Amino acid sequence: MSKRGLIAYDTIYSSTVEVAYWLKALLGEDQHVEVKHFDQVISVAPYDYVIIGSYTRWEKPSKRTQKFIADNHRELAGKQVCYFLTCGDNDETMVLKAPGQKAHLIAGRNYLMGVMEQYSDIKPVAIGGFGGRECMPHLNRVDTFQVWMVGKLAKESAPWEGLEIWESLVPERVEYFANEVREKILGLPRRTDCEKLRWFWNSVQPANRSAADRKKYTPKKYDERLNTAKIYFSRSRIRGDLALAIKLLKDWASQNGIALQEQKRSFFNAYYHGVKQYGAKAITIHVVAAEFVEDPGNVQLSFRTWDKPGARKGAEEDITSAEQLLWADGRKVG
Ligand SMILES: Cc1cc2nc3c(=O)[nH]c(=O)nc-3n(C[C@H](O)[C@H](O)[C@H](O)COP(=O)(O)O)c2cc1C
Repeated sequence: MSKRGLIAYDTIYSSTVEVAYWLKALLGEDQHVEVKHFDQVISVAPYDYVIIGSYTRWEKPSKRTQKFIADNHRELAGKQVCYFLTCGDNDETMVLKAPGQKAHLIAGRNYLMGVMEQYSDIKPVAIGGFGGRECMPHLNRVDTFQVWMVGKLAKESAPWEGLEIWESLVPERVEYFANEVREKILGLPRRTDCEKLRWFWNSVQPANRSAADRKKYTPKKYDERLNTAKIYFSRSRIRGDLALAIKLLKDWASQNGIALQEQKRSFFNAYYHGVKQYGAKAITIHVVAAEFVEDPGNVQLSFRTWDKPGARKGAEEDITSAEQLLWADGRKVG
């Protein structure tokens, strides 16, 4: 008999429930997979495995999701569990510096690190931070205001501006996650026909009714540089894995007198502060290296400094020398 699975989810605007049913289809129609809102779950006891899905709110899974994990965590710790999130920001090399906060990693799977640390007796078999959707005309008034405010504060970009529907979901991430569940929990081969089920997510809904040429989803560029009064930012990718990127970053730091201080390390990314005295001022370069499931064989890299243009010249030069080292020997991927 096939294992009995539960996909339990929380949603406000329905993006997460769409993904839950898409995952169910990817797992296979012959599988026993029940899809239920948390409010429809009395007990997780009857299931062999549980997939927990949530939307993201202020960098965390929803409060209801956190409560579901807290209420059931003893039972969940004895089962095969997976976590997934829909979210606006899918770039796992992203560091956010909001007013009054210490700079920190955000986006995608980074948003799951808090619950994973808090409930460390649950060892998830798979995790996914997929991206998601915002359907602007239907956000409630508070959410409309808050999304507008986040756009105003954004130092890099607010890609939803001018869109009625903004999407950031990376379909390959959902498919990779489903294949991990198939392999590691169900003992099934990975599906190679995933694309035929993308209609679970893709729709013919327009991004904006009065601007037919606008796109709902614009993948973030791998090769990017921003030099503004607020930020110096660069993003690129190289052939290789996380271990290689970390080794090259350590070489860069030691060659250039930079103290490389590890802030966070996970199985898919590493976040460092590169600290150096430039004249009278110590400047921190925020460096992240990350492997993305949709981009196998490559590592994504981001560098950021928020110091003023006049003060950060030396840091900008050091970022350029980091890139020269990382991109050498034909490693740079366009
Ligand atoms: C008020 C508000 C706050 C949000 N906060 C975040 C956030 O901190 N990080 C993020 O990546 N996405 C954030 N999102 C985006 C949602 O998580 C995303 O659109 C999700 O797909 C919505 O899921 P749902 O349609 O199932 O409710 C936020 C959305 C709203 C409206």
